[in-house]
Amino acid sequence: MTHSTGSVSACLPIHSDLDLVRVRQHVRQMTAHLGFGLVEQTKLVTAASELARNALVHGGGGQMECAPVTTGGIRGLRLVFSDQGPGIADLEQALSDGYTSGEGLGMGLGGARRLVHEFSIDSRRGVGTTVAVTSWISGPPRPREAH
Ligand SMILES: Nc1ncnc2c1ncn2[C@@H]1O[C@H](COP(=O)(O)OP(=O)(O)OP(=O)(O)O)[C@@H](O)[C@H]1O
Ligand SMILES: [Mg+2]
Repeated sequence: MTHSTGSVSACLPIHSDLDLVRVRQHVRQMTAHLGFGLVEQTKLVTAASELARNALVHGGGGQMECAPVTTGGIRGLRLVFSDQGPGIADLEQALSDGYTSGEGLGMGLGGARRLVHEFSIDSRRGVGTTVAVTSWISGPPRPREAH
């Protein structure tokens, strides 16, 4: 079971390009603080950047909740991006590389999924979109070995 450690949770608005910069900075700082290696820091920052940009561009703005979590003594960071935009009609299509409804490359959502250890998306037409991602310091937690 995953527990939120609660101590340094934060909620950041996503309504402007400057907010995107703040989201990247915050995720960089939190991952560094938790002890993520540089490569793992960059992966989560890149995923956060893409998901925040989607919330801004496609969702009309939203927010990112950021919370340190632990499971079995392993530390991780969980990020939840949410917006109250138009939602995504076809999730499979949206996640496939190269699909864009606008003028992007269509790489953001699928790319973000590959950069994190856990990824879930919930989207409803006319209600909005929520994307939750978690990465762990030393890879995804493995079930405890039998003795
Ligand atoms: N938060 C969101 N709200 C509504 N639609 C979204 C949201 N996020 C993604 N989508 C839809 O999924 C599609 C694919 O997203 P993805 O991030 O992969 O590509 P993109 O944003 O179009 O281009 P880029 O490569 O620049 O990110 C988008 O074009 C959009 O139609
Ligand atoms: Mg995108």
